[in-house]
Amino acid sequence: MPSVYIKTYGCQMNERDSEQVAATFLAGGYSLAESEAGADVVLINTCSVREKAELKALGKMGMLCSQSGERPWVVFGFMGCMAQSKARELFDAVPRLDVVTGTHCYHRVFQLCDGLLKQRLASVSHPILRRGAQLCEVEDLPDAHSRIRDHLPLRTSCSAYVSIMQGCEMRCSYCIVPFTRGAERSRSAADILDEVRRLVDSGVKEVTLLGQIVNRYGREEPVIDGRGGFVRLLEAVHEVTGLERIRFTSPHPIGFREDLVRAFSYLPKLCSHIHFPMQSGSDRILQLMRRPYRQQKYVELCEAMRAARPDLAITTDIIVGFPGETEEDYLLTKAAVEHIKFDNAFIFQYSPRRGTPAADMPGQVCLREKEARNHDLLDTVNRIAIARNMALVGTRQEILVDGPSKTNSSRLQGRTSQNKPVIIERGAARVGELLPITIRECTGFTLYGEA
Ligand code: SAH
Ligand code: SF4
Ligand code: F3S
Repeated sequence: MPSVYIKTYGCQMNERDSEQVAATFLAGGYSLAESEAGADVVLINTCSVREKAELKALGKMGMLCSQSGERPWVVFGFMGCMAQSKARELFDAVPRLDVVTGTHCYHRVFQLCDGLLKQRLASVSHPILRRGAQLCEVEDLPDAHSRIRDHLPLRTSCSAYVSIMQGCEMRCSYCIVPFTRGAERSRSAADILDEVRRLVDSGVKEVTLLGQIVNRYGREEPVIDGRGGFVRLLEAVHEVTGLERIRFTSPHPIGFREDLVRAFSYLPKLCSHIHFPMQSGSDRILQLMRRPYRQQKYVELCEAMRAARPDLAITTDIIVGFPGETEEDYLLTKAAVEHIKFDNAFIFQYSPRRGTPAADMPGQVCLREKEARNHDLLDTVNRIAIARNMALVGTRQEILVDGPSKTNSSRLQGRTSQNKPVIIERGAARVGELLPITIRECTGFTLYGEA
């Protein structure tokens, strides 16, 4: 039986896409390899959002290809966002590469790779490898979802990603995603619900609804009884029997209306966590970023959500060193972090992306300054995050048991509604179970609980 190995970089969208591609290989009679060694098809699902992510994927592929001498039939492919944005260039960067598939042709990855592999295995002498090089970057099947969906479920775990929309049209001045993921389009609610039900039937207890601006889902639909398309979708998903938890990511202040704030007060399956990218605490920088909100509006939304759901954990994304960011702007961001008290924050040093307006803006911040701001902000973020975790010691929480702890497989790990990982002794707990626990100890970012 041939096998495939898929390495995934980037966001949850990519993880979800990798799962779907894996499902098509399984359906085609392949097994999933645990590592690249021994796999007949090796795929890297790539991210373009920062230069580092691209370099990592290129480095990894270069290394794998250079080690493939004794197994010349192995098919190497790039998929995902860098594949979409760099396309043909990648064949020059990695001469041994066989397949490049953009973000719109996941449904064809299997067919391209399997075809190539069979062709090679059939010819004893393995003719010039490059002859089979394949590129797929066009959107030739608009509803890839419903076709690939037929191969689901692949799930073994109790939580799953469900993408409810594709693409993004915001054009934030720093961001490459609109170029790699194309125009914004929502899936039909019927399709989404169908997928959620299938997942639940296969043992899934928690779904995370995915979209670049997830709250723009269904924005062309009418507002009914004060509830827009996204909130009505949340309500419909909430109705699915057997589903215990609902999350969504990432929301954006644009179109974040009262109905979504209220949803936290009457949808108990909606978890007490929101990942809500702030990007900057300076209105001047938000404007240069083309983020269409002011800091004040962002803070008000956080406060309103906390009023609707007092134990809500808020995490965020912040970019430091955006072109033109002065020390004063940076200090506004730091003050916002102190004020809002995030449960955690991902801090990114601004990385110029070709073709985006910010890459050519004046006032590019030097690497040393970006690093200094990154470290300084990280200290603040960590101090607050740890204090918030410490405050949980002694509280009762409910965790969804995910599987063995990553650091000690004799223990289990689960996540609270706030999405905080908690380690527990195995005891009688089962994976996929919702378990009431008490938080006994906290060592910064790790919580220890007792059933
Ligand atoms: N759609 C989401 C963000 C997706 S990209 C939103 O708008 O909220 C994930 C994160 O990567 C962003 O929130 C941003 O903080 C970061 N990011 C995007 N482009 C970047 C760049 N060029 N340099 C550094 N960080 C970037
Ligand atoms: Fe990028 Fe902005 Fe779209 Fe998010 S909203 S994906 S940051 S362009
Ligand atoms: Fe990266 Fe593409 Fe996601 S650029 S962040 S993998 S949408």
